[in-house]
Amino acid sequence: MAQIELREIDETNLDAVLSIAVRTDQEVFVGGGVADALADADAYPEANPWYRAIYADATPVGFVMISWDVVPQPPAIIGPWYLWKLIIDAEHQQRGYGRATVRMVIELVRREGASELLTSYVEGRGDPGPFYARLGFKPTGERDENGEIILAHQL
Ligand SMILES: CC(C)(COP(=O)(O)OP(=O)(O)OC[C@H]1O[C@@H](n2cnc3c(N)ncnc32)[C@H](O)[C@@H]1OP(=O)(O)O)[C@@H](O)C(=O)NCCC(=O)NCCS
Repeated sequence: MAQIELREIDETNLDAVLSIAVRTDQEVFVGGGVADALADADAYPEANPWYRAIYADATPVGFVMISWDVVPQPPAIIGPWYLWKLIIDAEHQQRGYGRATVRMVIELVRREGASELLTSYVEGRGDPGPFYARLGFKPTGERDENGEIILAHQL
């Protein structure tokens, strides 16, 4: 498999990262695309957004954003460590890049002292529930303010 790396987004790669897109029918699961995610990061500084582009070798293939050690204010702000957005470009899905990225994020937050990584997802046909279940996430029994199912991965 290609070497997966999380890289900062700057003026040298912003256009390439903005061209990353899921399938139209998957947009409901990520609230649009990378531009929407970056707009959310600007709109919710209290959620302490931390984001990176996902590279497979030299190719930008995705985007990931987490809430970094945030003070939880449920149901609006989930944390302290919350996987907020995960986008793998439609052309690059099903090659293990999503799984590799989540494992990297898990290692990253574990090193920061996190005891669990949370995430949530919108239910529907083709939702990422099975993807997260394979990675060891389990439902907490709670939902966020939009009715998304909250999952936790114990670290
Ligand atoms: C969900 C997503 C991040 C998965 O990334 P990916 O790189 O395609 O997934 P991987 O190749 O790493 O898949 C890992 C495993 O999960 C499975 N899987 C991936 N997406 C799945 C889905 N939607 N439903 C069921 N299984 C899925 C794969 O078949 C693979 O199974 P295996 O363990 O038998 O090999 C990606 O498809 C995506 O961006 N989807 C649209 C946006 C989205 O739903 N994001 C997550 C919510 S924020």
